[in-house]
Amino acid sequence: MNAPEGPGPSHVAPSVADPLDRTRFPVDEWRLVETRFDGSDLGTTESLFSVGNGYLGLRGNYSESRDAYQDGTFINGFHETWPISHAEEAYGFARIGQTIVNVPDPKVIRLYVDDEPLQVSVADLIEYERALDFRDGVLSRELLWRTPGGKRVSVRSTRMVPLEQRHLAVLTFEVTLLDQHASLAISSQLVNRQDEEVEQPTPEAELAGAAAGGGADPRKAEAFDRRVLLPRLHGADPETARIKLGYRTVQSGMTVGVVADHALETTSSYSMSVHSEDDLAKVIYRIAAEPGVPVRLTKTVAFHTAQTVPPRELIDRCERTLDRTREEGIARQYAAQRAWLDDFWSRADVEVPGQPALQQAIRWNLFAVLQASARAEGQGIAAKGVSGSGYGGHYFWDTEIYVMPFLTYTMPWAARNALRFRYSLLGNARHRARELSQKGALFPWRTINGHEASAYYAAGTAQYHIDADIAYALSQYVGATGDEEFLAREAVDIFVETARLWADLGFWRDESRRTFHIHGVTGPDEYTTVVNDNLYTNVLARFNLRRAARAVWELQRDDPDAYEALVRRTGLSVEEPDEWAEAAQAMSIPFDEFLGIHPQDAHFLEREMWDLENTPLEKRPLLLHYHPLVIYRFQVLKQADVVLALYLQGEEFTAEQKKADFDYYDPITTGDSTLSAVMQSVMAAEVGYHELALRYFMSALFVDLADRHNNTADGVHVASTGGVWSALVSGFGGFRDIGSAAGDQQWQIDPRLPDGWESLTYRVTLHGTRVRVTVRPTELELAVEHGTDPVPLCVRGEVVKLAPGAPVVLPLEHQGPRLEGEPPYPAGIQRADGTVISAIIPTGD
Ligand code: BGC
Repeated sequence: MNAPEGPGPSHVAPSVADPLDRTRFPVDEWRLVETRFDGSDLGTTESLFSVGNGYLGLRGNYSESRDAYQDGTFINGFHETWPISHAEEAYGFARIGQTIVNVPDPKVIRLYVDDEPLQVSVADLIEYERALDFRDGVLSRELLWRTPGGKRVSVRSTRMVPLEQRHLAVLTFEVTLLDQHASLAISSQLVNRQDEEVEQPTPEAELAGAAAGGGADPRKAEAFDRRVLLPRLHGADPETARIKLGYRTVQSGMTVGVVADHALETTSSYSMSVHSEDDLAKVIYRIAAEPGVPVRLTKTVAFHTAQTVPPRELIDRCERTLDRTREEGIARQYAAQRAWLDDFWSRADVEVPGQPALQQAIRWNLFAVLQASARAEGQGIAAKGVSGSGYGGHYFWDTEIYVMPFLTYTMPWAARNALRFRYSLLGNARHRARELSQKGALFPWRTINGHEASAYYAAGTAQYHIDADIAYALSQYVGATGDEEFLAREAVDIFVETARLWADLGFWRDESRRTFHIHGVTGPDEYTTVVNDNLYTNVLARFNLRRAARAVWELQRDDPDAYEALVRRTGLSVEEPDEWAEAAQAMSIPFDEFLGIHPQDAHFLEREMWDLENTPLEKRPLLLHYHPLVIYRFQVLKQADVVLALYLQGEEFTAEQKKADFDYYDPITTGDSTLSAVMQSVMAAEVGYHELALRYFMSALFVDLADRHNNTADGVHVASTGGVWSALVSGFGGFRDIGSAAGDQQWQIDPRLPDGWESLTYRVTLHGTRVRVTVRPTELELAVEHGTDPVPLCVRGEVVKLAPGAPVVLPLEHQGPRLEGEPPYPAGIQRADGTVISAIIPTGD
């Protein structure tokens, strides 16, 4: 897919135009459709057409394989470990590298007609269509192939990873000869890709690799130069056509079992043989195929994984999953998938009528977050979900700040699972805090197994804000669901241990008033590291401290038994919450009176500015072209930092401050991280830059669909897909939850419908009641779609008690403040001391 802005992501999409080639990807509101084969972006389309359920993910590889950027199959959390060797060691550096493993590939179904293999890249294809349907969750492909011998063959295949049965994948492959009879061979396989000798890639695959950047890129996964999966078991049953493989990883000791069942339906005569060895198991059908007689293969696959359970036992589990599936029949799986997704869309759909291209992209994004998270249970939500190996399959703050809002308001049980996963890491986080000489708990910046896996501490471990991000997501979840029981029983420990970390990490200083500071941390913006009083960190830490104090006080008041249990679990003293509240009250929030803005950190304004306006596109993203030290020296942002704080803690800032901060930071934000555009869109909308908000939204909406960052091949940018929901619901839809730290939570709506949009409809579930919000140019409609309890909402200051069966229509006089264009580049302005902030591009020439 084309990235019209050039080699790197631009500051913001130059226009709101649709960037897709619609002759290849026609508009369809419910499907992503591709109408012709293109070998130049195999990796991208593999990610875009991946199917997954948050546990298991199959990339969109062609089942014939060979033409592939990465023949990937991923299971959330299934990883190998390796010792991180730092060239220069230091105390407390991350030691255990963790990398997601490519588990045995169940997608392979090869077809031979009169001994000629079907290989999509070289085949004479009369017809081609590939489609991912968001309503039934099925990826389908239809080919009409003219074989080298001149026979026309119709090949229809489908692939589905059930949302209800998370261990399962269902694949079908149907071949029909259109003209004359022929001998067919279908070889259905399970292949260990992780350890396979690298096959000679096809020219298309090689191109795709080069297009995706090839060489060193911190965003890719580490490669292993040794065996990762130790074969423990293989088998193939000639009676039942059941094949199996079992492995244990060399270092992490994790185990995986995979079993595939086959059913062939045809009235043509055929024979079947099976074969298995360490890294391959297959079933081969030889069919004397008659024209017009379909040959239909159904392949059902089950995966089970574990920390230590022997592969033999996992294979038993797989067999039970498959036996049950066989008894129930495949039709049931399709029906269940459809029902699951019907329910999902009724909870989560966001509608933009009259804009089918946007509608399609919106649904693709929402479907992608769903595929990354729905059945993650017991694991985190990786930066690429289960769609690719980028970032090694690691979990970051992406989950809490970008994905959790979507889950909390549309699929609260999945949000709860994600929080429970963090809770399960608390022991490690306590240990890690001790390692960093702190009290409380410090969650790892990036991890799979709970240990810090970031080898680069400056942009990794130093991002202490992960603690506050988790606390924020927990608070948001409890506020939205009312799940106080989860809070009281376990999750409150997260508040306590994170608050302790902040209280201990920060320190007091006696100035004109006593202030509390946090030094030596990195905020979300990774282009400035290890700073004092990063605004985002301090603002979120303040929230964390207050929210924790409130949670403890309320527990003490309302549930003394739970409070006692908390004290026993954590050794909490009565004074601690008071200390937290005091630290929060005195938190230092950098503010420059002269410029009227919040500096990103205590020394931010002392730096000169990177001349972003004149930096050539081939030097973007900066992280791939400049040493970190060069970047760190300047005022230049990888991603929203202050601006993100303005959104998450909006109630703490005035409208004037928000505008001033947005104006200052927006032009110096590169957007080199896909986590940026969505948040810039939200805040541009709030402060009044309507057209700019829409452009940021379009950038984000097509991050993957148009491969804007040139690395969609490594997997979907899940944070951005979640952020797309936030941009729609919070940005244009104007939805906010505020006040949870102080105990006066309120759901507010102050919309910003983009010009030219006829309406925007979204849904949020509040304490079990699903509310539908429709924004139109001159009115706002609120209705309870599901549930029996009334919901209080505050629309532009007016409180509405929304009751079931009684929709409310409110007039809207405007769509918020309106500012034209975009804020000017701020270089050349004066600092408070009279010096000028100059704009520079470091070249060394
Ligand atoms: C961003 C981080 C993010 C990570 C994983 C990086 O490029 O700067 O904020 O957590 O990607 O998505």
